[in-house]
This record gives sequence, C-alpha cells and structure tokens, in this order.
Amino acid sequence: MDTHIEPTRPTIEPTPHLRPHAHFTPDSTWMNDPNGLVFFGETYHLFFQNNPSGATWGNLSWGHATSTDLVTWIEQPVALWHTENEFIFSGSTVVDHDNTSGFAAPGQTALVAIYTSSYTSASPLHGRQAQSLAYSVDGGQSWTTHAGNPVLDRSSGEFRDPKVFWWGGGDGYWVMVAVEAVDRTVVLYSSPDLRSWTYLSKFGPSHAVAGVWECPDLFLLPVAGTDLHRWVLVVSLNPGGLAGGGGAQYFVGDFDGVTFTPERISETDDPTSFDWLDHGRDYYATVSFDNVPDNRRLMVGWANNWDYANEIPTAPWRSAMSLVREVDLVEDVDGRRRLRQRPVLPPEGLGVTVLDLTVPLTPGVVTEITVSTEDDADPWVLTVDGASRTITADRHECGNVDFHPLFASRDTARLVGDDDTVQLQVIVDASVIEVFAQGGLVTLTQQVFPRAPLTKPRVRTHQPST
Ligand code: FRU
Repeated sequence: MDTHIEPTRPTIEPTPHLRPHAHFTPDSTWMNDPNGLVFFGETYHLFFQNNPSGATWGNLSWGHATSTDLVTWIEQPVALWHTENEFIFSGSTVVDHDNTSGFAAPGQTALVAIYTSSYTSASPLHGRQAQSLAYSVDGGQSWTTHAGNPVLDRSSGEFRDPKVFWWGGGDGYWVMVAVEAVDRTVVLYSSPDLRSWTYLSKFGPSHAVAGVWECPDLFLLPVAGTDLHRWVLVVSLNPGGLAGGGGAQYFVGDFDGVTFTPERISETDDPTSFDWLDHGRDYYATVSFDNVPDNRRLMVGWANNWDYANEIPTAPWRSAMSLVREVDLVEDVDGRRRLRQRPVLPPEGLGVTVLDLTVPLTPGVVTEITVSTEDDADPWVLTVDGASRTITADRHECGNVDFHPLFASRDTARLVGDDDTVQLQVIVDASVIEVFAQGGLVTLTQQVFPRAPLTKPRVRTHQPST
C-alpha cells in the first residue's frame, strides 16, 4: 500500500548559499534527530529522523547517509519507512557481532536497529510508544522489520529513543537506555538477544527538568592523562535547555551493569551549575556511534531547536547535523570532571572557514570576532569579555532573523579555569557556526541565515582605557 502523503514543499525560494559543506543536510526533505549511528564495513552510517515527502516534521522515517571521512556525507535511500500504523521515531543501531539476535545467516553479520514505534490513530496501539527492531544483513542497504515487534512495550505514550550498547565483555548483555519523557527519567533494560528485555533500573528526575527528557546515551570514556574511566549519561530536554528551547545535559558517574550513579549532584537548581553539552540554541538530540575502532567516542547532534525548527528559512531542505565531535573527559576542571569535545575538521578548500584564535582574558579587555558577508553586511559577532570570563554569540543582525520570534538570540557561555587567555576555534559553514573554546571544554552552536555567505572575519580587541 502506498502510505506516502502529498509532499508539503516549502514556499520559500531555494537557498543554496545556506547549505553547509561539512555539516550533513538532506537533499530536499525534513530532518531532525540523528539515529542509529554506527560504523560498519569501513563506513560511517548516519540515520536520521526524516520526512521523506516534505520539509516539515511528519511521516517520520529513518533517512540514511554514509561517509568514510565523517565530513562528506552521501545521502542514501530511506532505510526505515513509516507506515499507516506507525511513525519510526528515534533509536540506535548495533552491530550484532555474535548473532545474539539470530537475524544473521551463517557468514553474515546483522546490523540491528532498535527504534521507537510511535503508533498512529490507524493502529490498535494508538497513542502508545514502544520499542521495535529491524535488521540489515547487507551492511545497512536494506532493512527488514522484525515480525515480533514491538519487543518492549510499557503501555506508555511517552517511552522512546532507545540507545543500545553491549555491556560487560564476554559474559555481558545488551543494555538499553530510553526515556519516560514526561516523567523525566531514563529507564534501563537488559537483554541477551535484543528481543526480550528485563528492567534494570531508572535514573532521574535530576538537574534540568523543565522540559521532557529525550534521546539518552550512556557510554564509558577515558579521563585524559589518567588511567581512569568514567561513565557519561547524556540526556536532551525540551524545553528547559540552557540557552532556551531544547538543550542537552550530561552526568559523569559510574555504571555497574544495573544502575547509573552520578558522581556529582548540584547543590543548587541554577541551570548554569549543571553540565551542558553546548551553550548555543542549536545542539540537540546528541548521541554517539556504535562500534567505532579504537574505542573512539564520536557524537553528532541535531543543529536545530524545536522552538523554530519547522520554520527555518532554508529550501528545499530543513535542518543540518553538527560536525562529528570526538569526546573524552578532563580531570578536575574547576573541581569536576568535564566533557571535552573536539570536532572532526573539514579539509581546506571545502568552503568552510575555520578561525583559530587566542584571545586575552583580562578584566576590562573585550574582544569581538565578527564574521560578515563580503560587503560587510549581516554580521555574526562573538564577544569575549575578560571581566565576566564569558563568550557571547550574537546573531541578532545576521540576516534573516524575523521568521520566528524566538530565533534572534544572544547565547552566552561561561569559560572554565582561570587562564589569562582563551583559545577559540570558530567554524563557519554556511548556516551553521560552531565555537569550540578552551580545547573543547566549552562549546556553542548557532544557526544563522545571512543573505550571502559569511566570508569576512574581523577581530577587534578593546584595551582598557587606563
Ligand atoms: C527528539 C524527538 C524524539 C522522538 C523524535 C520524533 O527531537 O522528539 O524524542 O523520538 O524527536 O521525531
């Protein structure tokens, strides 16, 4: 049966100058969360929430793109199609090396996608969200939906976004982290075969709880320069993000195979005392790849915000992913372990501007890094304030900001430590700007919609008058 609905094409003119070069965008459709990130067969696979027949949210399916360098992506045919009965919401993909699921024939390796079935009004399960499986035995090209779906149903309408990983080596098992979104809890389950799941524990509500919790992830990271490893739990929430709308927080702690225990709980409910992946308005639903060689942990976020995502003025596509970020932990940054995020940089000549700067952090000294069009229009301004030890990205005057009242923003991040300079990397790629400060201990991501490419950087430092 043909379940595709009539395309809802954007009414705006095509905006090729806003298409990033090193940030993935779908050719001509809608995208939200990254899904099913997995490395297999020398290829990185990026699946994503996709409306295959429109440029606004709807008909949720898993789109698909592949890359061998994590910078240039090739869009592939849709991997998992919505049906009349269900939307295919967010989830993850694992490589089932030992064929625990039994989906692979001898000599094959199955990729298994664990996703949320969000049942439509046409379904007897209408209103429910439950977890389902699909598998591929040809390296992610074609997918078969498991006949026994759903495999985990809590009779909940808000149970979603399963992230699955293998825990415990040879005697281990699969662990799923998912959310009860409205309860602001992460729920954990275990399974020997991805088909039957047993409840382990839950985490939360904790720290930022002003919005629903979505898209959790849990993984082990090395603490740089030590022999230590710590577990990191990432949870997106919307609204209630630090900069407004959606945002993603993280907890550093321990996971013993059953329970996640954070090593620090803030004594105040001031959001700036929590740990955030990013300080801009456009970094959401961030999750990591499965099966990357050498235990590298690579993450991708959706460079957008639900506050205005459906109205951003790009055409014929809507939404970009972030650059891929490699993460680890750094010991004792202002008394706590913090996540460090380093981007996989595009090569020169791809059309991306990468600015590397070291800027003073002296009280009274203010530095402005401005990026504008060739004729000095549509400035985006990053201000480094030595007195408050902050960076602030201001997109108020950068081109089209009027398409939504919540878009024009000035987002601020407090720097860490007490150095008297700050190292900044500013990556400008058409309509996405990512700032990595202090070697990636502080990051800030914003979308911008200038009328022409932002090609002209300028740096101005105001010295103290005395
Ligand atoms: C997060 C989210 C997920 C859900 C998906 C639906 O952006 O709301 O919780 O699975 O988007 O598209």
